[in-house]
Amino acid sequence: MTTITEKHKKIERNVTLLAVLAFLVVTIGGLVEIVPLFWVKSTVEKVEGMRPYTPLELAGRNIYMREGCYNCHSQMIRPFRDEVERYGHYSLAAESMYDHPFQWGSKRTGPDLARVGGRYSDEWHVQHLIDPRAVVPESIMPPYAFLAEHELKAGDMTKHLRALTRVGVPYTDEDLEKANADLLAQADPEADTEDLLRRYPKAQARDFDGNPQKLTEMDALVAYLQMLGTLVDFKAAAGQEEPQ
Ligand code: HEC
Repeated sequence: MTTITEKHKKIERNVTLLAVLAFLVVTIGGLVEIVPLFWVKSTVEKVEGMRPYTPLELAGRNIYMREGCYNCHSQMIRPFRDEVERYGHYSLAAESMYDHPFQWGSKRTGPDLARVGGRYSDEWHVQHLIDPRAVVPESIMPPYAFLAEHELKAGDMTKHLRALTRVGVPYTDEDLEKANADLLAQADPEADTEDLLRRYPKAQARDFDGNPQKLTEMDALVAYLQMLGTLVDFKAAAGQEEPQ
């Protein structure tokens, strides 16, 4: 009894020893909690419908990051009633499994965009991005009219896709090989998109910015916005088991 108290006294009276031992305890505790998550399969439960981004969507996503849209918009619907009623089914971990980096965001000056896909027409998005106040008079969102003028310079999408495969995004060799052609085909209303749709189910292919003569940054950004939250079919899943 006395020896334990004596020993403890030593620890409590020596700041350095206390700090070292406290650090060890917290480290071990943290590892025990965190490390198993890397192996437990259910950490990111697979959800039907998720697929990697098409090259055009990815180019749009890059513009989204370049312009800092995430400073005002989150992409994560929390499982609270008010959020679910406003934005739709709460976000699942699997829905951002191919996001590098993820776009959850930490601030909502504007609404959450995790399920904005299909909520508005392409024309609405183009109008809104050119001049937000033309469609939402009280909006404080900045205008991004230049996106409709700037030609899309996506660079070599094959390299981009290959970089993503390194962090685990399952693009196939065929996806890599056809990346640049896929990008062009998705924004071209005349193109044959059967092959694209086979590899990227639910991909929406059309001219997105209302100017079929030119492939612009607006095309890519609107293609990205229009696919957000559209891959997982929650209506079909509702009758079955509730996704976790
Ligand atoms: C300074 C903050 C700010 C920035 C930066 C910003 N937005 Fe917004 N955004 C808003 C606000 C506020 C609204 C709500 C009013 C409106 O609809 O314009 C909004 C609305 C939207 C909506 C409509 C959402 C809905 O459900 O009605 C979309 C889509 C959107 N923004 C996309 C973007 C994109 C893409 C970018 C980057 C190119 C961007 N925003 C940058 C503040 C911002």
